[in-house]
Amino acid sequence: MQNLSRRRVLTIGAALGLVGVADPSKAWAWSSSGSIAATDTVTDPWGVWDDATDPLLVDLLESGQIPGVNTAFEKWVNNGDALPSGIPAALTTWIQAHNKLPSWADQTKLDRAAQFNKRMSMYLFLLYGLGSGIMSTVIPREARNVYWSEGGAVMKSRAAKTFTYGYDLSAVDAFKPTGHFVVTSNKTRLTHAAVRHLLPQSPHWRAVTDDQDFIPISNGDILITFHSLGTFVYGKLKSWGIRMSAAEEEAYLHMWQVALHLLGVRDDFIPATWAAAKAQSQYALTPLLASTPEGIDLADVLLGLTSQVDLGVTRGFQREFARYLLGDQVGDWLRLPRDFASRAVIEVGWPAYVAFREGTSGIIPTTYSLFDQFIRGVAMLFLNNGTSATYTPITIPTGNRAG
Ligand code: HEM
Repeated sequence: MQNLSRRRVLTIGAALGLVGVADPSKAWAWSSSGSIAATDTVTDPWGVWDDATDPLLVDLLESGQIPGVNTAFEKWVNNGDALPSGIPAALTTWIQAHNKLPSWADQTKLDRAAQFNKRMSMYLFLLYGLGSGIMSTVIPREARNVYWSEGGAVMKSRAAKTFTYGYDLSAVDAFKPTGHFVVTSNKTRLTHAAVRHLLPQSPHWRAVTDDQDFIPISNGDILITFHSLGTFVYGKLKSWGIRMSAAEEEAYLHMWQVALHLLGVRDDFIPATWAAAKAQSQYALTPLLASTPEGIDLADVLLGLTSQVDLGVTRGFQREFARYLLGDQVGDWLRLPRDFASRAVIEVGWPAYVAFREGTSGIIPTTYSLFDQFIRGVAMLFLNNGTSATYTPITIPTGNRAG
């Protein structure tokens, strides 16, 4: 783990809404008693990859079959679609085994989560897009993997593919036959397995990666990313005082539990409660956050992409909002320029905007329309990708970034 001081870890954790005491000098000590498997073991998730999938992708890549698979996958979109034809038999067998929800999935909770996502949509677009998306660039392994994989060279389409995942997850019919999420998850899981075989062949990636990361995207890495998404969003919604019933909170977690399962994370690592998720996040996410040259570059590219649409605010405002969401330590790491005037507006105006939207204050703040246009602009950015001709399907890579 990075050598972050305890004080710094606490500061960053608090800024991200991940309160608690993390000790970066400690090894993984999260007991699976807090997992949905409810066993009591301590297994290091950084030593667990995807045995059910990785050998298959080695075969498909080595035998040059991925381009044909990607073509066949174009017509495989809805959860209820017939399995794609013309693909290798071993892949058909894999899809038959994985194209379904886990036995413990609860359709009532998933339906509740879908309604919750709909009600929260404006906040979710903002938090996933400007919060989690930028946080991924200060997760060193993720930043290096994303930068040096094939898609790192074409971040616009890569970001669009990631939007596809978020859009499919948050759709009202995400887990139903008309929804896409199970299929999208399977394509993502296959993509990750391909990356595990491809990235270690990249001299650029090997030159920058840390010693333990000899095979990328372990279960531990995926858990970290989950915390930068689900746990972070949940923490922010709570800290902003957004109304959430206990059943909604549980349903939102359940949706992520199923999502993690579909990405190949073992049940004994998947947190059973938000309390367990926060505890795991303290071990797994907060102490690892750090700056890398790759992350600084990726953040600049990502923020540049959102600046291309008119969010009704200045570039300085947008960067300050990212700082507001992630804390100034993260903002400094990413060298986000300061705009103190915008920051002052955000510090006062955003809580007032949320309070008015949530009905806890009857006073319309003078900056209401500024924030409303901003939040709607971010949502449109997301929705345009999900519904228009620019919808970008997830494809399995066959190589790495050239340099
Ligand atoms: C690809 C989602 C965790 C690295 C993808 C794709 C999605 C996705 C949707 C396909 C679209 C694309 O190519 O960008 C997720 C989710 C995660 C997760 C939801 C966890 C909850 C991780 C982690 C890493 C990682 C932990 C690395 C440490 C990559 C890389 C690609 C990829 C390198 C391939 C990009 C390329 O084609 O070059 N991921 N991911 N992902 N992911 Fe993940």
